[in-house]
Amino acid sequence: MSASQEDKFKKITAHCKEYGFVFPSSEIYDGLSAVYDYGPYGSELKNNIKSYWWKSMVQMHDNITGIDAAIFMHPKTWKASGHVDAFNDPLVDNKDSKKRYRADQLIEEAIDKIQAKADKEVEKARTRFGDSFDEALYRETNPRVSEYLSKVKEYTNRLHSSLSANDMEGLKSVIEDMEIADPDSGSRNWTEVRQFNLMFNTQLGNIAGEEGKLFLRPETAQGIFVNFLNVQKTTRQKIPFGIAQIGKAFRNEIVARQFIFRMREFEQMEMQYFVKPGDEMKWYEYWKEYRMRWHLALGTPQSSLRFHDHENLAHYANAAVDIQYEFPFGFRELEGIHSRTDFDLRSHQDLSGRKLQYFDPEVNENYIPYVVETSIGCDRMFLAMISQAYSEENVPDAEGQESQRVVLKLPAVLAPVKCAVLPLVRNKTELVELARKIQQNLKPLFICQYDDKDAIGRRYRRQDAIGTPFCVTVDFESLEDGKVTLRERDSLRQERIPIEAIGRIVEEKISWEQVFRNF
Ligand code: GAP
Repeated sequence: MSASQEDKFKKITAHCKEYGFVFPSSEIYDGLSAVYDYGPYGSELKNNIKSYWWKSMVQMHDNITGIDAAIFMHPKTWKASGHVDAFNDPLVDNKDSKKRYRADQLIEEAIDKIQAKADKEVEKARTRFGDSFDEALYRETNPRVSEYLSKVKEYTNRLHSSLSANDMEGLKSVIEDMEIADPDSGSRNWTEVRQFNLMFNTQLGNIAGEEGKLFLRPETAQGIFVNFLNVQKTTRQKIPFGIAQIGKAFRNEIVARQFIFRMREFEQMEMQYFVKPGDEMKWYEYWKEYRMRWHLALGTPQSSLRFHDHENLAHYANAAVDIQYEFPFGFRELEGIHSRTDFDLRSHQDLSGRKLQYFDPEVNENYIPYVVETSIGCDRMFLAMISQAYSEENVPDAEGQESQRVVLKLPAVLAPVKCAVLPLVRNKTELVELARKIQQNLKPLFICQYDDKDAIGRRYRRQDAIGTPFCVTVDFESLEDGKVTLRERDSLRQERIPIEAIGRIVEEKISWEQVFRNF
């Protein structure tokens, strides 16, 4: 991360706390690592993100219905899904610093450093040779650069082959050969690399021992799989059809950092689409394209989003792609689209002994459907939206002087507060009464705040900082002509409008209908 990106990320994190979006969990006890609480504006924004997802998946598709399954599931669920045996990350401890790391991440970071050295040499040469510079030739022929690049290739290959073969000794030998030091202490005194299961577990009160061991779900998807026939029968859906769910998931991440990007308790928005075997790639392509459009419809620029095919497929998938977003710390996974074959339903059928098959009247046969999944982390989407929206700019203040404002240019549909009503001054009873009355009338339509503290300029800045798309100022003329000034957050355009028009104008801009008509 460059210094300016790091600076921006720190500012975003601080802004989220200062303005009531995200707080460290149980902060009075110094917080709990990688666990966060959403504050008053954060919970509104998060609810709006969930609403957008739910509407687009459930409301806009006749053949997708939602469920809300319990977090606790029968422990056999996680045996069947493969999570008990294969939901592991390679863990390594530094014996001196006692710090714990993911071995694959340590190696990836070390590889990135070698790649950065090669890139730096190439950039230096480009400046030296100017227009005549042939980058491809230079990368191939310059001895130092080609040595760097061949190391990158060798270590990347060794990393991937060790990961796919579950070869922990292989990973340890890469750490040794690359002479990787603990980023914290500089020590190279490492333990062996071992597999670490990411599921949290707990115990049922009335059953002792292994029998009563429960897991906190590491993905919401399994609640959908085990309910597949319940939903299909009660909704009489025909294949293809989908089941959607939003809910908490828990992972005991070894290294959890980057604010709400990687958390131990987080929320997923997942949809499993049940299709006829053989049709899965058609639907995989459909959902890839649909989910990308979902992001673009919010106004996120195409240049900040990209597809990234998985190199190592999870145990259940025959195709998988991420939608990556360019966070301040670089392009990272925001959402996954996975073709999960019939792995989950078949495993649950085998372990439970219950048939999980669909009778297809069109071909007159029973089969286990294939599944295409879309899975997005609500918290990551939140971070993407805040990162996209956060902006510092110089704008004229009430006296026409340039001043800096921090503004969250959130899509109006997602903004926590849609409109603020501000009497120009607070010591004039008629103005205050009129402003209060306007707010009361708008409350049933959308979240509308009233604020009369401080000068009007400071109140605008407060609303900018939480992303309120509209401010309504009630002034002395309002008492005469029944009009108010409507200020638009991004353009700063001010318009005189009748009081009765406020609701309609704001509702038009914040309407989901507009988003879905342009989808
Ligand atoms: N059911 C498939 C599944 O869970 P995943 O790629 O492991 O796939 C899906 O997770 C999404 O959940 C990710 O794209 C990410 O947005 C979110 N996610 C995963 N782990 C997370 C974590 N530790 N903190 C926050 N979000 C996470």
